[in-house]
Amino acid sequence: RYQAVIFDLDGVIVSTDRYHFLAWSQLAWQEGIEFNEQINHRLRGVSRMESLEIILEKASRRYTPVEKLKLAERKNEVYRTLLGDLTDGDMLPGVAETLSALRERGYKVAIGSSSKNTPVILERIGLSGYFDAVADGNGIKNSKPDPEVFLLAAGKLGVPPEDCLVVEDAEAGVYAAKRGGMAAAAIGEARNCQEANYSLTKIEELLLIL
Ligand code: G6P
Ligand code: MG
Repeated sequence: RYQAVIFDLDGVIVSTDRYHFLAWSQLAWQEGIEFNEQINHRLRGVSRMESLEIILEKASRRYTPVEKLKLAERKNEVYRTLLGDLTDGDMLPGVAETLSALRERGYKVAIGSSSKNTPVILERIGLSGYFDAVADGNGIKNSKPDPEVFLLAAGKLGVPPEDCLVVEDAEAGVYAAKRGGMAAAAIGEARNCQEANYSLTKIEELLLIL
């Protein structure tokens, strides 16, 4: 009954979520701010500036808007350096096979990511130009849990939201999909999210529910 599958990028298609964690960890350490996996969990699917605000909750001083922009830039520089090592080998297990099987079965495939680095990442893993539509952080005002990025993807695909299935590793992303009137399949860190319609232990399981 679905016509299209919209994939989150970081943590679903590619293992960049590790690099986000490393880059934020370095920044937090340099600033003397407590940071751990639990706080990191809240950053999944959330935009760069919103992620920074979450990290600064533990800061012992206030930062001006200009300082905040500089911090976000510093984090992104470290992150971009880490992305330099990215290859198609960093695609998560089963992704390439699942994408081509979906294609073969006639499903449209799209990306719906909050990341402004989406074009660079797709390029590095050899998937730029592969998707029927790409909606990312460069084209939206509100990041997940707002449905904007997924509605943009559905619009670009020309598929009604109710005919789209979203694959997400972030709770914020699952909420975004639901608010946008789409079904959500949760994987990885979001696997136990109650709001999701499906829970996947590996991405190939998509082929069983579709
Ligand atoms: C994705 C990641 C988030 C990240 C956001 C913005 O949604 O899950 O952890 O903060 O993208 O990424 P960017 O590459 O624009 O800094
Ligand atoms: Mg993600």
